[in-house]
Amino acid sequence: MRNMKTKVRIVNGDGPDTDYQEAAEILKRGGLVAFPTETVYGLGGNALDEDAAKKIYAAKGRPSDNPLIVHIAGMEALDELTSNVTEHAKKLAERFWPGPLTMILPKSEKVPLGTTGGLQTVAIRMPNHPVALRLIRQSGLYLAAPSANTSGRPSPTLAEHVAEDLTGKIEMILDGGMVDVGIESTIVDLTEDIPVILRPGCISKAMLEEVVGTVTIDPAVNGPKKDTSFKPKAPGMKYKHYAPKADMTIISGEREKVVETIRLRAESATLKGRKVGILATDETVGLYTEGTVVSIGTRKEEGSIARGLYKILRDFDHLKVDEIYAESFEDDTMGAAIMNRLCKAAGYAVEHV
Ligand code: TXA
Ligand code: MG
Repeated sequence: MRNMKTKVRIVNGDGPDTDYQEAAEILKRGGLVAFPTETVYGLGGNALDEDAAKKIYAAKGRPSDNPLIVHIAGMEALDELTSNVTEHAKKLAERFWPGPLTMILPKSEKVPLGTTGGLQTVAIRMPNHPVALRLIRQSGLYLAAPSANTSGRPSPTLAEHVAEDLTGKIEMILDGGMVDVGIESTIVDLTEDIPVILRPGCISKAMLEEVVGTVTIDPAVNGPKKDTSFKPKAPGMKYKHYAPKADMTIISGEREKVVETIRLRAESATLKGRKVGILATDETVGLYTEGTVVSIGTRKEEGSIARGLYKILRDFDHLKVDEIYAESFEDDTMGAAIMNRLCKAAGYAVEHV
């Protein structure tokens, strides 16, 4: 159902108060407001109001057992929202907040199960974006906010992406322009002695380890199967997340072989009358001759790749391509997070050449 009037307000961190007041009023009434964070746009509602959580799930078409991240603007919220602020949590908050790190901790009584998907833990993050922080402060609330996309679509890096998915379903969108990071926050589970990364992001394992010692990575991060040799597309769509509409394949291996393979695939698909999209980089974009070739960014600055990725996946949807081929990225700091999102988009269809 898209029968609600969705207001769009262009804002920045130090603009007039009126837009923030209006947005805060909506949130206090239990309504939904999408807002920019440094990672991706979030769909915000009062985190302590189960009915607001229900509205979030409905607007996104998201299963209600998938918990929401609670966004805060001050450290004192940690004591209020969790039953045990561990030493690790204190240190990580000191070092990385505000910033793209989400911590999983045991929840306090105040946090409703409707927000945590029935779990006794809560995900908390202090975003590093002036609009997000000001909105949280103005509302006097904690904001439950998943990425502001329809469930299963790429996360929004522009307000236009939010409008595309959620117009008519939410009350307001605060348009703060293009986000900075472009992929979602790193999620670290601090409920056991050794922290576990549940979702890689631009705060890497090594960066976390500098603060808290050994950190492990949840095996599920690498997809449904361990084997890295050729994989058919995951049979269950349940593993497909940030999905474009086209069939997507990641080609990994030595750079030259990757380019050669993608060239051949694009050629044969085009001959069959299929529309092809190629996810290239500044370093390789000139080497492809067939299909719609787009550079996501430069390998010299992987931040640019993270920033551009979701927009390009959405652009390919608009261009109605049938097949997408993507180059792969190294398993280093940002590369690990980029590969994780690419793999999810491709339903783990990775081919080694
Ligand atoms: O960068 C981000 O984190 C963005 C911006 C808006 O802050 N938010 C975001 O939210 O990506 P969402 O809902 O799209 O992803 C949250 C992830 C989900 O995979 C969810 O399962 C996990 O966090 N999560 C939330 N609470 C959890 C909990 N208590 N235990 C384990 N995982 C949890
Ligand atoms: Mg999401």
